[in-house]
Amino acid sequence: MKYPKEYLNEIKTRLKISTVVSKSVALKKRGKEYVGLSPFKNEKTPSFTVNDEKEFYHCFATSEHGNIFDFLMKTQNFKFGEAVKHLAQLAGMQPYLFSKQDEEREKKWKKYLNIYSQYVDFYHNELLKNDTYSNARDYLKNRSLGKEEVKKFKIGYVEKNPNFFDKFKDQFNEQTLVESGLFYLDEKKKIYVERFKGRLIFPINNISGHPIALGGRIIEQSDYLAKYINSPETLFFKKGSNLYNLDLARKLSNKLSDIYLVEGYMDVIGLSKNGIENAVANLGTSLTDKQILTLNQFFDDIIICFDGDESGYKAALRAAENSIKDLKPEKQISFLFLPDKEDPDSFVNKNGKNHFIDFSKQSKIPIHQFIFSHYKKQTENNPSSMAVFDKKLKSIAYTIKDDYIKKYVLEYFLERISDLTPHTNQNKKNYYIKKIKTLESTKKYFNESKSLTGVELKEFSLLYLIMFNLKLMQENVHLLENIKLFTDINKQIFDKIISKLKSGEKLTIEELEIDNQLLEKINKFAPIKHILKNKLDSDNEIIELLEDINRDLNNYDLEFRIAELESKFSKDMSEATFNELKDLKKKQNIN
Ligand code: UTP
Ligand code: MN
Repeated sequence: MKYPKEYLNEIKTRLKISTVVSKSVALKKRGKEYVGLSPFKNEKTPSFTVNDEKEFYHCFATSEHGNIFDFLMKTQNFKFGEAVKHLAQLAGMQPYLFSKQDEEREKKWKKYLNIYSQYVDFYHNELLKNDTYSNARDYLKNRSLGKEEVKKFKIGYVEKNPNFFDKFKDQFNEQTLVESGLFYLDEKKKIYVERFKGRLIFPINNISGHPIALGGRIIEQSDYLAKYINSPETLFFKKGSNLYNLDLARKLSNKLSDIYLVEGYMDVIGLSKNGIENAVANLGTSLTDKQILTLNQFFDDIIICFDGDESGYKAALRAAENSIKDLKPEKQISFLFLPDKEDPDSFVNKNGKNHFIDFSKQSKIPIHQFIFSHYKKQTENNPSSMAVFDKKLKSIAYTIKDDYIKKYVLEYFLERISDLTPHTNQNKKNYYIKKIKTLESTKKYFNESKSLTGVELKEFSLLYLIMFNLKLMQENVHLLENIKLFTDINKQIFDKIISKLKSGEKLTIEELEIDNQLLEKINKFAPIKHILKNKLDSDNEIIELLEDINRDLNNYDLEFRIAELESKFSKDMSEATFNELKDLKKKQNIN
């Protein structure tokens, strides 16, 4: 069984090789390449390089090299098919199933591409060469678009009475032609009509650069025709999955970390004419999760810059509320608001590249700030209005999928709200100030404790709790017996303590014979010491804390086992592993 080249190419274009490799090898940027320690050899100085532009990795120590598929096959022992499945999923693509339908679809896809490329080439050349299209040329001149832009974006012009359908009829059947979306049947006259007649056409390419749909603009003012139309959705064109100019813009992702997301075709072209080529447009529909995820595969910083009018603002707000869900660590989404009545095209034409970029640097607002200030503007200074505001912001923060981002956005919202209500929050504010001071003075402590893992810290808490409540623990030794520890040295001492406790003799901390260094570490780092109220806790409270720790350690155990099974599953894809995994995840949810 062979995967179609198109399918494999699409995976390759969607996934930067550095993204794939960096999941298992720590990479550092060096010029155009990334370098890291070779996964093929134990080494101390990096001789492993990854080049996104050339789409391959090379190891100078072992001469291993290849593309993303090779990388997984060599480092994870995947078979080719497994690597394809794994990467397709990572790229957000459907698995290829090798069914009869897939084969049919593949045939249709080839015809579809063929139709679009012939159509686009033909009308593009006509616009460049056919002198009778002076109206289209004048239009372009008026908008100061030159040959360069027409060529770069392969803009075309479809005449008012075109007959491409007849030209195509010998090559393709009628159904195939209608399914392309370029033609429709006029029921009355029983003729096929070209949807884009009398329009300038802007090819919309897929990520590999093949045209799969068109946008078309009228060039003469009209009351009854829409200014722009797009190809209808077809088997191969889904509006929410594509972005205009992504095929060209993504190539810049090795040099630039930001991408402008604008509303219109002309915005992308106007920016490009002024030397800003990292821009895509979302085809006149609202922004989808998929578009954000795709952009984030290539760029860390998405700058959404819609028109400076009311509908642009509303679209931006909708985009913000929708895309904050998908915000990820190390990625940013921000918003750039243009002066009234301007769109990116008009603004950059008036002010030029440098001003646009400076303006963008100074004026862009991070997504969470935009959301906050929008809802704040709508809020009055009375309890009922504040309550609505508070609730709305929290509900938006709770939609965020990534836990870290959720935590920080929520914290930002809460702090800003507390700034707005100074009276009720005086105590809380003092608390914040104090906390910040101690943080400064204990920087060293945090740096040291950072090298300890979460599990180790939990274990320290457990040992600490036992050490300082020996009598109570002795009476409840059965509660300790089921607790599972992970770190060798902690485990050894824990087992020793249990056997001593079981002996029934009265014990002191010294008699536990804990190694001094370990003892010092426990005393210093056990997070639980900040919770304990110096012997004031009741026995019940101590037992509760013990149970909490036990549950947390159990969860670590589950997490490790789940991680192990997930990597096993990605290799064997077996149903048994999957079921085992499902059970563990269920357990994890219960705890
Ligand atoms: P705009 O009306 O802002 O277009 O619509 P524009 O890019 O500024 O166009 P020019 O400068 O007048 O040529 C932005 C986008 O919304 C979609 C198109 O994708 C357009 O590029 N749109 C607009 C439609 O789909 N249909 C319309 O009738 C208008
Ligand atoms: Mn516009």
